[in-house]
Amino acid sequence: MAIMEIFEVPHPLLRQKSKPVERIDAEILKLLDDMLDTMYLAPGVGLAAPQVGHLKRMLVLDASSKDEEKHPMFVINPEILWKSDETNDFEEGCLSVPNQFATVTRPKRIKVRYLDRDGTEHTIEADGFLATILQHEIDHLDGKIFTDYLSPLKRRMLLRRLEKERKSASGSASLEKNKEE
Ligand code: NI
Repeated sequence: MAIMEIFEVPHPLLRQKSKPVERIDAEILKLLDDMLDTMYLAPGVGLAAPQVGHLKRMLVLDASSKDEEKHPMFVINPEILWKSDETNDFEEGCLSVPNQFATVTRPKRIKVRYLDRDGTEHTIEADGFLATILQHEIDHLDGKIFTDYLSPLKRRMLLRRLEKERKSASGSASLEKNKEE
């Protein structure tokens, strides 16, 4: 088990397009395991490979609720085949945009084809929370972040709040340090 560093905005890697996984080998499996551990520890419900510095089209997620048993999903080379006209509003957050949340409107249901970690192909119809997580994470593979869906004003406010929180966090960290000295 290894916990990976999660890249945060405005890291340029988060804006790049990831490449398909050509072969599911030991290295890919190890990366998937480490991504899952990193996601659970964060804690988060989804994590895409570019968020940990790998431009590969794969992601991990767990849409089960807290009191349920864990249901990790490994999604490699996903393709959205269909999206419903009906939409859903969800309050979204992202491990790359820490502690910031905003409502995003997305298709309520989607059909996705992907490979699991054994290389088995699946086509599923996802609804609600799972559909939102899948779309949010697949966006990461194309260099998209949930804040892209917000109005310019809302996006600026959210990023300003993030900047402020980062500054006060580093300020209190240096205060702690001064106390020790
Ligand atoms: Ni995200």
